[in-house]
Amino acid sequence: MLSEKLQKALNEQINNELFAAYQYLAMAEYFAAMNLDGFAHWMRLQREEEIGHAMKIFDFVIDRDGRVKLGAIAAPPSKFASPLDVLKKALEHERAVTEKINGLYTSAKKENDYPTEALMQWFVLEQVEEEASALKVVERLEMAGDDKAALLMIDREMGQRTTTE
Ligand SMILES: [Fe+2]
Ligand SMILES: [Fe+2]
Repeated sequence: MLSEKLQKALNEQINNELFAAYQYLAMAEYFAAMNLDGFAHWMRLQREEEIGHAMKIFDFVIDRDGRVKLGAIAAPPSKFASPLDVLKKALEHERAVTEKINGLYTSAKKENDYPTEALMQWFVLEQVEEEASALKVVERLEMAGDDKAALLMIDREMGQRTTTE
């Protein structure tokens, strides 16, 4: 059985993942409005991936005979200065999520809750991927600078993403 404390923290993490999905959706909208369809596509897949994360925890809590309590999802920021600004914000957010996952991992370990610890181990590694993929785009956009042709090239590449991993 899940402790009250872990159940609460897992519920919070479900909300964090759903907020992340909402935030990526706002980013998809920003890029779609700019006709940067590749970026928009990438952000939509990222949104799907975050829903997957939320559902992974949702299912886990239910399997552990816990209760999921869905809270309000805050409105995401929707004003961005540039594509680089968007990706920097995405990276910043992923880093904040990593901190939360690490906290959950520590709590699970302290309580000797092995299943939660194992689940969080998956998330710890997932966050390495999440940060790496956001950082990669940040660095490419920095490389492109004000070069519009380079931006369109990156956009084409972003449009080729096929999986939500
Ligand atoms: Fe996530
Ligand atoms: Fe993420």
